[in-house]
Amino acid sequence: MKKVGIVGITGQIGTLLEKLLRDSVDFSFGGGISSETSPTNFRDIVQNCDILVDFSRPAATIHAVELASRYGVPLVSGTTGIASSDFEKICNYSRYIPILHCANFSEGIQLMAILLRKCSAVLSDFDFSVVDRHHRRKKDAPSGTALFLAEQVEQKAQIVSLRSGDVPGDHICDFCGDAEMLSISHRILNREVFAKGALKCASWLINQKPGMYSMLNYLEEKIGDRWR
Ligand SMILES: NC(=O)c1ccc[n+]([C@@H]2O[C@H](COP(=O)([O-])OP(=O)(O)OC[C@H]3O[C@@H](n4cnc5c(N)ncnc54)[C@H](OP(=O)(O)O)[C@@H]3O)[C@@H](O)[C@H]2O)c1
Repeated sequence: MKKVGIVGITGQIGTLLEKLLRDSVDFSFGGGISSETSPTNFRDIVQNCDILVDFSRPAATIHAVELASRYGVPLVSGTTGIASSDFEKICNYSRYIPILHCANFSEGIQLMAILLRKCSAVLSDFDFSVVDRHHRRKKDAPSGTALFLAEQVEQKAQIVSLRSGDVPGDHICDFCGDAEMLSISHRILNREVFAKGALKCASWLINQKPGMYSMLNYLEEKIGDRWR
C-alpha cells in the first residue's frame, strides 16, 4: 500500500482524510503535518511517504512542495488563497514531480466549470456573477472555487462572498441578460466529498510524469469525451 502524508492533519479536511485512509485498500497513513510539526519531522514525513495530500495554508504548501520535489514525492494540494507569485513557484517545482492543484475536489464543481465555458461562449453579451458562501472561519475571500469558476468565462465576473455559519461551500453562477437569467448552482452537503476527491486524484497522480495537473485532467481521462 502506498503511504500518504497529510499536510494539515489537524484541520477540517485533514481529519477526514486520515479517517478515509484507515478504511482504504490502496493507501495507508504515512504521517501528518500541522503547524506544530518541527522542521525535522516535516522533512522525515515527506521523505517517508509515497505521496502528499495537502489541505493547509499557503506557507505550509510552499514548504511541502519544496521538500516533495527534493525527495521526488508527488503532491496533491487543495489549499486556497495562494498568491499568484507563490503559485508560479509551485508550478516551477512541477518540472521535477507531478503536482495536482485544485480549488474544489468535488466532481460537481468541475462539471459546473465545463458548463460555464459552454454557456459563456453563447451568452457573450450577458453579465456574469458568482455568489460564494462559506463557513465563517474561512480565511480567503473570494473563495478559490469562485476564482476558478470566474476563470472559465469570457465575461468579467462580479464576485460576492458571504461568510456565515458552518456552510461547507455553496456557489451560484448567474448569466443575466436584459430579459432572462440563467443560473447554475452547486452545494456541498458534506466535506467528505473534498477528501474523497483528493484521494481519487492521488491514485491517478501517483502514476503521472512530472508536470502541473488539475482535477479536470484526471476527470477527462476517466470520463473522456462525454464531458466535452
Ligand atoms: N480544494 C478543496 O476542495 C478544498 C476544500 C476545503 C478546503 N480547502 C482549503 O484547504 C485549506 C485547509 O482547509 P481546512 O478547512 O481543513 O482548514 P483548517 O481546518 O484551518 O486546517 C488547516 C490545517 O493546516 C495546518 N497548518 C496551518 N499552518 C501550517 C503551517 N505553517 N505548517 C503546517 N501546517 C499548517 C493546521 O495546523 P494547526 O491545527 O496546527 O494550525 C491545520 O492542520 C484551506 O486553504 C481551504 O480553503 C480546499
